[in-house]
Amino acid sequence: MERFRVMGGARLAGEVRIDGAKNSVLKLMAAALLAEGRTTLTNVPEILDIDYMAALLRRLGCEVELTPGTVVIDVPAELDHEAPYELVRRLRASICVLGPLVARLGQAKVALPGGDAIGSRGLDMHTAGLAKLGATSESEHGYIIASAPNGLKGATVWLDFPSVGATENILMAAVLADGTTVIDNAAREPEIVDLADMLIQMGAKVAGAGTSTIEIEGVPAGSLSPTSHRTVPDRIVAGTWAVAAAMTRGDVTIRNANPHHLELPLDKLVTAGADVEWLAGGFRVSMDRRPEAVDIMTLPYPGFPTDLQPAYIALNTVAEGSAMVTENIFEARFMFVNEMVRLGAEIRTDGHHAVIRGRPHLSGAPVKSHDIRAGAGLVLAGLVAEGETIVTDVHHIDRGYAGFVEQLNELGAEVIREPDPDLFTE
Ligand code: UD1
Repeated sequence: MERFRVMGGARLAGEVRIDGAKNSVLKLMAAALLAEGRTTLTNVPEILDIDYMAALLRRLGCEVELTPGTVVIDVPAELDHEAPYELVRRLRASICVLGPLVARLGQAKVALPGGDAIGSRGLDMHTAGLAKLGATSESEHGYIIASAPNGLKGATVWLDFPSVGATENILMAAVLADGTTVIDNAAREPEIVDLADMLIQMGAKVAGAGTSTIEIEGVPAGSLSPTSHRTVPDRIVAGTWAVAAAMTRGDVTIRNANPHHLELPLDKLVTAGADVEWLAGGFRVSMDRRPEAVDIMTLPYPGFPTDLQPAYIALNTVAEGSAMVTENIFEARFMFVNEMVRLGAEIRTDGHHAVIRGRPHLSGAPVKSHDIRAGAGLVLAGLVAEGETIVTDVHHIDRGYAGFVEQLNELGAEVIREPDPDLFTE
């Protein structure tokens, strides 16, 4: 286990380059299963989740080659249909092989990934959507066993909530279904658009991705072909750097990012007092004073992203004034607030609301990272805390932020990655 030692007081200045989105590339890797042959994905971040997904695809029979920035997946004619627990438990996103496997093989057995530190994360909408397309699903011995022996049939699927994962699974299943599928109340995230773009390049007929109604006209199995696709930039990593720049009263240019995907978060930074300049292929954030508190309410895209909620809580802890943050997506996403309080933050939570009273200073302390985004939020808080903040359990942060420490140091921060000596005594 490793930890980060963060010295407070840095002002971040310079440039960072953003990789492709973790939350997109994992689904693009699953989509490759739909076509026999060699698919190449570029702009791929160097994070462990990619290795886990590669291991799962290999288990299904694919050959997967990972080189920096690129994943090449060779999909055989015959795929295995079982995604075992040892591989799925490390990576919740592995549930997105369910749709492609049922579509291609008429059956899939995928281990239930279980909950995690941000909430319960049900799968009912995934299975209900597949059921509309004619796949029965049962939960047995910790697995979802889905079966459509006569193939899938297009249907209208109305989602109770615009779930990202359910939209992706149903979309990937529907491309090979017989007839037309309509996903209503679909998720509109840029990662959905990225997935649809890749499917279209493969020969699928998909219209409306990025809106609440996606229409898919099924094509015969075997008519899709592998493709090369560049992953959409990671808007959450880009947004994290934007907040880091504003909080440290710095000046950071964020390259290979799409500010259109961050309109609301960037607008909130302007309200907080930052200057945000849109550039071709990126944006620049600078700030020369203490931020003003900004209210946040997380919602499905184009609402404020839940994955940036911890970073904006960090910003509000040192802001002038009080802010109300409302979390509408994941019920346990305020768990990390107690760690912020250890840094001297003044935060009270009640259900899905958090009220933060900004303080002039935080004070460095040892804190624990519960999940990717909470961990990043704690590092941001550490950058503006007096003295030293030690963030433990950083394997969570590593899952979402490749080269985080190196990039922070390049921008002028003082952050060290080191072994966590606590474990040596166990
Ligand atoms: C994805 C992202 C995650 C992001 C989230 C919301 C990946 C790997 N992860 O997660 O980083 O925070 O979108 O933008 O892409 N739900 C159900 N039943 C279902 C499906 C979802 O109850 O069948 C609930 C979940 O428990 C959660 C909410 O709906 O409370 C949102 O989930 P969803 O949009 O599906 O998020 P994920 O795809 O899991």
